[in-house]
Amino acid sequence: MIIVIDGPAGSGKSSTARAIADRMGIEYLDSGALYRTATLIYLEANRDKETFFRLLNQNKITFYYEDQKFHVLVDGQSVTDKIRTSKVTSAVSEVAALPRVRSFVNNLMRDVVLDGVYIAEGRDLGTAVFPDAELKFFMSADLEERAKRRLNERKEKNPGLTLEEVKQNIAERDLKDSRRKADPLKKADDAIEIDTTNLTFEQQVDKICLEISEVLKEIE
Ligand code: DC
Repeated sequence: MIIVIDGPAGSGKSSTARAIADRMGIEYLDSGALYRTATLIYLEANRDKETFFRLLNQNKITFYYEDQKFHVLVDGQSVTDKIRTSKVTSAVSEVAALPRVRSFVNNLMRDVVLDGVYIAEGRDLGTAVFPDAELKFFMSADLEERAKRRLNERKEKNPGLTLEEVKQNIAERDLKDSRRKADPLKKADDAIEIDTTNLTFEQQVDKICLEISEVLKEIE
């Protein structure tokens, strides 16, 4: 069974999906982390597409969720922290727009969810990757609010970061992610929209957990 949460950067998808996975004892899948991993490989290939696609097919990408963290390994080596650097963040929309990269990541995800109950988060999961998902959510929030949340998350590791920089980065990514030709960021028609601008974290987690419990009850 697959439950998906889509939404723009900083809308709270990732922390919410992790809290739900922990509370409900289900698996968590972070599709953005897989695009970030592809981006890391692209940068390591010095942006040379031929080398990049060769490495993408040769390297074995594995992942698992543990202790509130989505871990990714490339050929057995952890890249969990490396994929969160600003170098990767700045290049990820460009790499995620490549149709070959999208089908690569989609296949990785579709293979893994065949077993168990998963909550996955991303941009196009309800529309392109899992159109038949049992439950779909679309999380949104004001740009200002999203930037404040991102800054809070990042300021410990990057004390020089400003609200304006985060806001600009998020706005640029939103634009690229929603305007790209290949599977853009888009709310699925049958997704439940959750605007988190004025919700506390607990409120948004409760709201989604309630919907999931209802569906699980129906299935049992
Ligand atoms: O959720 P995130 O910020 O880690 O995602 C990183 C990038 O990956 C984001 O800018 C767009 C891309 N992405 C995507 O195109 N499709 C997804 N399903 C998830 C992420």
